[in-house]
Amino acid sequence: MGIGIAIDGPSGSGKSTIAKAIAARLGFVHIDTGAMYRAVALRTHRAEINWDDEAAIASALDGIDIDITYENGTQRIFLNGEDVTQAVRTAEMGVGASKVSPHLAVRKKLISLQRGLAKSRNVVMDGRDIGTVVLSNAPIKIFLTASLEARVARRCHELSAMGLAHNPAEIAAQIEKRDFDDSVKNKVLFRAEDAVTVDTSNMGIDEVVAAILKIAKEKGVLDV
Ligand code: DC
Repeated sequence: MGIGIAIDGPSGSGKSTIAKAIAARLGFVHIDTGAMYRAVALRTHRAEINWDDEAAIASALDGIDIDITYENGTQRIFLNGEDVTQAVRTAEMGVGASKVSPHLAVRKKLISLQRGLAKSRNVVMDGRDIGTVVLSNAPIKIFLTASLEARVARRCHELSAMGLAHNPAEIAAQIEKRDFDDSVKNKVLFRAEDAVTVDTSNMGIDEVVAAILKIAKEKGVLDV
């Protein structure tokens, strides 16, 4: 078993950006587990299966083959041999991923895939249930949070950079809905009891990375 760093937190808290930066810094592999739930959403959407139809989704799972590869340290995700790295990033697939995520058969399949990926290598894995379920023995568990205002500002900044129009009030409503769905309705997002909470509201990427590396060093897990 390699060393695992688990990073969980709500949507928009910066998990993937931070996980990727830490993995690059340590020479670990970054695994973005949200992309896998998004891939299940994409495949079932294409098969015209309703995301709320748990039975239909469970029987479609055998035909869903998800593979992860790395290109210059960046994760690429393949769905039945097709590179869907970009296709899963849409807001619609984010909603779909959230809808398919509570189905037990989906969780079972993806958790097993994620554990397999972490088995023989050092990983920084980000998601919602990494510290509580997937890598419950991980020596370093981080729970990233940020205020709603900070998360809305970051999302607006991302959309502006892509030249896309946006409405901050609508984005705030979407983020609040996802928080409610992940934590209360679908119960997939939990903070592990032994996780260290890092509130990134007033921190830049480098500061968050440094704070997490400091936590790892203090725990004696890494010599960085
Ligand atoms: O991190 P993201 O936005 O790509 O995640 C999309 C959805 O996938 C999220 O709303 C809930 C689900 N998810 C999950 O249930 N468990 C994970 N480990 C990662 C994501």
